[in-house]
Amino acid sequence: MSAEPTPPAALPPGRPAEDVLTELRALRGGDAPTRGGRTFAYVYDAGVDGLDALAAQAYSAYATVNGLDMTVFPSVARLENDIVAAVAAVLGAPGVQGTFTSGGTESILLAVKTARDHARATRGVTEPRLVLPSTAHAAFHKAAAYLGVRPVVVPVDPVTFRADAAAVAAAIDERTVLVVASAPSYAHGVVDPVAEIAAAAAERGVLCHVDACIGGWILPYLRRTGREVPPFDLSVPGVTSLSVDLHKYGYADKGASVVLYRDAELRRHQYFAHAGWPGYPVVNPTVQGTKSGGLLAQAWAVLRHVGEDGYTALAGRVADASDRLLAGLRAAPGVRVLGDPAAGLVAFTLDGADGAPDLSLLLHLADEMRERGWYLQPQLSFDGLPPNLHLTLTPATAGQVDALLADLADALKAARVLPPVAVDPALAELAAGLDPAALGPEEIAGVLAFAGLDPQGGLPTRTAPLLVLLDALPGPLKERLLAEFVGSIFRI
Ligand SMILES: Cc1ncc(COP(=O)(O)O)c(C=O)c1O
Repeated sequence: MSAEPTPPAALPPGRPAEDVLTELRALRGGDAPTRGGRTFAYVYDAGVDGLDALAAQAYSAYATVNGLDMTVFPSVARLENDIVAAVAAVLGAPGVQGTFTSGGTESILLAVKTARDHARATRGVTEPRLVLPSTAHAAFHKAAAYLGVRPVVVPVDPVTFRADAAAVAAAIDERTVLVVASAPSYAHGVVDPVAEIAAAAAERGVLCHVDACIGGWILPYLRRTGREVPPFDLSVPGVTSLSVDLHKYGYADKGASVVLYRDAELRRHQYFAHAGWPGYPVVNPTVQGTKSGGLLAQAWAVLRHVGEDGYTALAGRVADASDRLLAGLRAAPGVRVLGDPAAGLVAFTLDGADGAPDLSLLLHLADEMRERGWYLQPQLSFDGLPPNLHLTLTPATAGQVDALLADLADALKAARVLPPVAVDPALAELAAGLDPAALGPEEIAGVLAFAGLDPQGGLPTRTAPLLVLLDALPGPLKERLLAEFVGSIFRI
């Protein structure tokens, strides 16, 4: 990290459109590919010819429309009503209402705000709490932090990685405003016991949100292919809201999600209205004010184009890829698949000779795979749950499974002969004693440098040494370092 602040670069003189586009395309050169089924996190490739072009054209047809005011742009309301209706028809129950949002995080933030405000209005709760399994997505913690709600985290079953419904039930008290279940969880791809959790919440008069951000647009279609999928949506008694991202297994471009509520009375707590200023009267259903109609239009177009038959066929391809990958992984010595993955998500760890997860080997494997052109996502150990590599499978993966397994075997061989990476125990002990809140810029810079995080020098190509260190650090210090590091990437 440089001590000197980087001077801001002024906007250069205007250039022809083609030049600018050429530069943009070149910038993409260093990124992971978003198409082709080799990047196993962050991207969803339907492998459907023409789908990207359709989304781009639909976006550009609506790019200049402002979704802030549907009385001026009534087609925005038509598109949103169409999308929410299509989602409610698959995941809802009679009377549900919903909203199109920018993504899973926003849908979750809104569901938590709605629950907080509903509990205050109907039960007088002033110190709101959110009960969630430890595998619930980090977005709930973000929502809790933004909204002044206290998270109450309940450990999951260490073998199945599913929420423990009895433990969740026991954590509910008179301050609980919302209980969470995932269908499935991102980390391990397993579906929580939604019916039991929702029943426990209902018994105490508490709302229950199902986070189906990643599973909501694949699980119902997997069911249509004949696979067994447990009930998880708003038709389950006690489930009062649900989030589903269309920019995941809906294959829309990023910026597309829906949050559903059991009825209008609940949804109204999500809306923000303000007439106490001299400007236009404001009614914002979501976090954003001004928003492009483009994201809505592209999601609408993709849903309509793929259709029910298309989503069923795509879910079948993901399931097929998942079956073949799981069979290959389970046959590989030392590999342990975590839990019983329900949809397209797979997480596995590597056990060492002592039967415990071998973090160093796992991270070397991720690095070796990256060198072979595959991105597998490292997930660190947490509260007794093993570190692992996560793969989000998409239809585009289906044609890659054999190549992936072959490269995995080769990469594992290479990883096994690399010297193990480990953290100096003295350093780990020292770090454990640090108070992240009391660290100044110099100390932070020192720790980042020690961890090999030098944004000026570019990101490390092999991440094993860094991740082994991060894995050993206590959570708050890890969070502080990561935030500092990302802040130093965004230099200005
Ligand atoms: C289960 C689950 N919930 C929430 C989110 C957050 O969604 P987003 O990244 O769209 O904000 C994700 C993202 O992967 C997810 O898998």
